[in-house]
Amino acid sequence: MQLGWVQGGKMWLGVLLTLLLCSSLEGQENSFTINSIRMAFLPRQEVQNGDNLTLQCIVDISTTSHVKPQYQLLFYKDDTLFHNISSTESTESYFIPQARVYNAGIYKCTVLLNNKERTTSEYKVLVKRVSTPIVTLDKKEAIEGGVVKVRCSVPEEKPPVHFTIEKFELDIKDFKQKREKTSPNQNFVTLEFTVEEQDRVIFFQCQARIISGTHVENSTIVRSDLVTVRESFSNPKFHISPEGVITEGDELHIRCTIQVTPMVQVFPEIIIQKDKVIVAHSQHKNEATYSVMAMTEHNGNYTCKVETSRISKVSSIVVNITELFSKPKLESSATSLDQDERLNLWCSIPGAPPVNFTIQKEGVIVSQAQNFTKKASKWDSGTYTCIAGMGQVVKKSNTIQITVCEMLSKPQIFYDSGSEVIKGQAIKVSCQSENGTSPISYRLLKANNILETRTLASNEPAVFKDNPTNDTEYQCFVKNCHSHTEMESKRLKVKVIAPVENVTLSILQNKMVESGNDIVLRCSVNNASGPITYKFYREKEVRPFYQNISSETKAFWFKTQASKEHEGQYYCTASNRANHAKNVPQSNILTVRVFLAPWKKGLIAVVVIGVIIAILVLGARCYFLKKAKAKQMPVEMSRPAVPLLTSNNEKMSNFNTEANSPYDYNEDTGNHAMKPMNENKEPMTLEYTEVEVTSCEPHEGLRTKGTETVYSEIRKADPDFMGNRHSRTEGSLVGT
Ligand SMILES: *[C@@H]1O[C@H](CO)[C@@H](O)[C@H](O)[C@H]1NC(C)=O
Ligand SMILES: *[C@@H]1O[C@H](CO)[C@@H](O)[C@H](O)[C@H]1NC(C)=O
Ligand SMILES: *[C@@H]1O[C@H](CO)[C@@H](O)[C@H](O)[C@H]1NC(C)=O
Ligand SMILES: *[C@@H]1O[C@H](CO)[C@@H](O)[C@H](O)[C@H]1NC(C)=O
Ligand SMILES: *[C@@H]1O[C@H](CO)[C@@H](O)[C@H](O)[C@H]1NC(C)=O
Ligand SMILES: *[C@@H]1O[C@H](CO)[C@@H](O)[C@H](O)[C@H]1NC(C)=O
Ligand SMILES: *[C@@H]1O[C@H](CO)[C@@H](O)[C@H](O)[C@H]1NC(C)=O
Ligand SMILES: *[C@@H]1O[C@H](CO)[C@@H](O)[C@H](O)[C@H]1NC(C)=O
Ligand SMILES: *[C@@H]1O[C@H](CO)[C@@H](O)[C@H](O)[C@H]1NC(C)=O
Ligand SMILES: *[C@@H]1O[C@H](CO)[C@@H](O)[C@H](O)[C@H]1NC(C)=O
Ligand SMILES: *[C@@H]1O[C@H](CO)[C@@H](O)[C@H](O)[C@H]1NC(C)=O
Ligand SMILES: *[C@@H]1O[C@H](CO)[C@@H](O)[C@H](O)[C@H]1NC(C)=O
Repeated sequence: MQLGWVQGGKMWLGVLLTLLLCSSLEGQENSFTINSIRMAFLPRQEVQNGDNLTLQCIVDISTTSHVKPQYQLLFYKDDTLFHNISSTESTESYFIPQARVYNAGIYKCTVLLNNKERTTSEYKVLVKRVSTPIVTLDKKEAIEGGVVKVRCSVPEEKPPVHFTIEKFELDIKDFKQKREKTSPNQNFVTLEFTVEEQDRVIFFQCQARIISGTHVENSTIVRSDLVTVRESFSNPKFHISPEGVITEGDELHIRCTIQVTPMVQVFPEIIIQKDKVIVAHSQHKNEATYSVMAMTEHNGNYTCKVETSRISKVSSIVVNITELFSKPKLESSATSLDQDERLNLWCSIPGAPPVNFTIQKEGVIVSQAQNFTKKASKWDSGTYTCIAGMGQVVKKSNTIQITVCEMLSKPQIFYDSGSEVIKGQAIKVSCQSENGTSPISYRLLKANNILETRTLASNEPAVFKDNPTNDTEYQCFVKNCHSHTEMESKRLKVKVIAPVENVTLSILQNKMVESGNDIVLRCSVNNASGPITYKFYREKEVRPFYQNISSETKAFWFKTQASKEHEGQYYCTASNRANHAKNVPQSNILTVRVFLAPWKKGLIAVVVIGVIIAILVLGARCYFLKKAKAKQMPVEMSRPAVPLLTSNNEKMSNFNTEANSPYDYNEDTGNHAMKPMNENKEPMTLEYTEVEVTSCEPHEGLRTKGTETVYSEIRKADPDFMGNRHSRTEGSLVGT
């Protein structure tokens, strides 16, 4: 026993030593290296759907240690870790029972040993085909227009799955309807199929497809159970009466009938159509009828449609009606003719059947016969048709549009203004053909040149606007559909008068006239029309001192033997009948000076000097005579001297009388008063004075007393201060 224990103890010690030795070796000297790592697939990398698939990771490691090292293996699919195992074996496996499409992908595995890591290359695993789908239906029997729900599923697969479902008629190869749908989140679909009118026994087929990597895997095609279809109503059927040949005038009945399955409660709608036009319909019966008197226009293809909400059954029939007589044909000699020409219309039918003809114009019978002839008037314009009748059968011909053109009456030309036109004024020249068919084209000529052309759709006057500047003539020409050539109007003479716009007064020779010479004033105007009334005025005189009426554009005033009294300011006015009374133009103001001849001045000087000498001589004589007397009479009183100048007051009163002279008048007294215009244009000052005015002169019968406002313009530089002083007095005729 003791020996056994000792022996046992020795053995444990040995094991302990070995372990210590090993661990010390491992910690210090043992080395590991990964020689290789790879994957293997059983049975192979490409498997059929439903096959068992085993993935293996095989690692080859070299080590100095006697003990197998433990390492970690990581399995990845499409870069996602799905399996993690610690192992000491060189091969580790992962088992996939019944591989499905979603198991296909890129696989790899990684080994981790101490701090070393190695990864295999990537392996592409394919799973071929999709597992077989399951097709189920919600019913085995259906009625036309009903709905069948088809469910197709692939329970082993994962979405998204694309399903294709086709509807087949038994014993017919091609599908009748095909529907496809991708189910993104479920591995089944339910699709509804309508049962159509031709369906008898139907079934469905389903196939599933799944995208796997870059390609598409499909399943086998699975067939559903059969569905039996029952009819809800029969195909429509036509019944035509009368049977056999149908002739125009017969009573035609086109009837369409159906048979409705007894269990179907609602009648479908029945529609009879001819070329898209519904000619009859019924809603609550099993038939529809179209009744009409047969005419060839009822020939054609009739369709009977029977419709419920989802189905429609159609049948068609061609109806052929025999013609009784053919359509009449209306002809005319001409469609466009002049008034008074012969209008000829005739109607005919090939084979000349015994029919009654009428010719109508816009619904009004104009002839009960086959022909219509008359002398055309403008009332005969219109649309004509011919109607042929045999018993109840009435046929209309083609229509003919007849235009009868009435000749234009001689055009009238006139204008809106009075007898004369003032230059610059626009006038309206009107031209009118009262009678005659429109449209009418008018052509207006002015002095033989075309001014304007215009076409009017009525007989209203054509109005042309013009602005004649001198005397001229207008004429117009008219034309319409009538074959007659153009008609011309009379010539319209228009007299244009030019108003006086512009008046100038001038003097022949010089403005400085020597007394005794002639004064010739000329009043001239622009190129105005005569007669022109000329009026010559002296400034501040109301009445012209001379007036003349002349057709010339100038007038003269002569004055022989001019004297100082002809000195002054002149102007003239001129007007003709084109000027309004208020708009008479007035000329410039002309100042005329009259001076004495030098020899006259000399003569006066000599006379004056002679007189002065004589006075001086006389005075001297008197003086000496008085002195001699004074020696006899001792004292004599001296008298104050006579002032040399008159007082200021006197001067003012002097001016007063001058201001009240007939030449001085206020501008309110007449139209021709002018604002004074002086040759000297020195600056003026305006004096404002309140003056107490008393007026008692019998001047123009005015008598006022009151405070008046007086504006005085004073020309400073003029030495002859008083003579050039003009006063304007408001409200009164009285000067300062
Ligand atoms: C697949 O594996 C299962 C066990 O998971 C087994 O019963 C079955 O027989 C295997 N099929 C084939 C074809 O080897
Ligand atoms: C593998 O599993 C172990 C524990 O089972 C864990 O500690 C380790 O982090 C896992 N490795 C990876 C890469 O997930
Ligand atoms: C299904 O796929 C196979 C091969 O991938 C192909 O030969 C076959 O024509 C496909 N069947 C249908 C119905 O698409
Ligand atoms: C009549 O019309 C129907 C529907 O438009 C058409 O199917 C059919 O062929 C036509 N029949 C004849 C004879 O033209
Ligand atoms: C209609 O019937 C006539 C004979 O009655 C025949 O000549 C003609 O071709 C038919 N038309 C059609 C469209 O069938
Ligand atoms: C009608 O006019 C046509 C042509 O002008 C002529 O041939 C025919 O004889 C006329 N018929 C009658 C009934 O006047
Ligand atoms: C023509 O009109 C007359 C009188 O209206 C009538 O008696 C006759 O039957 C008509 N002829 C035909 C062919 O319609
Ligand atoms: C226009 O015709 C009417 C009657 O139709 C006649 O009285 C009038 O004089 C005619 N006018 C001219 C300008 O011919
Ligand atoms: C009338 O005026 C036009 C231009 O306005 C001019 O050509 C023509 O010569 C003038 N006629 C007369 C007679 O002055
Ligand atoms: C006035 O007449 C003169 C010539 O007579 C002319 O040159 C000037 O243009 C006219 N002025 C006006 C405003 O008509
Ligand atoms: C003046 O008018 C007359 C007709 O009014 C014309 O004949 C003449 O040529 C005109 N003279 C000028 C210069 O315009
Ligand atoms: C008007 O002037 C013409 C010449 O221009 C002259 O012969 C005639 O006598 C004058 N008439 C008057 C009333 O002065």
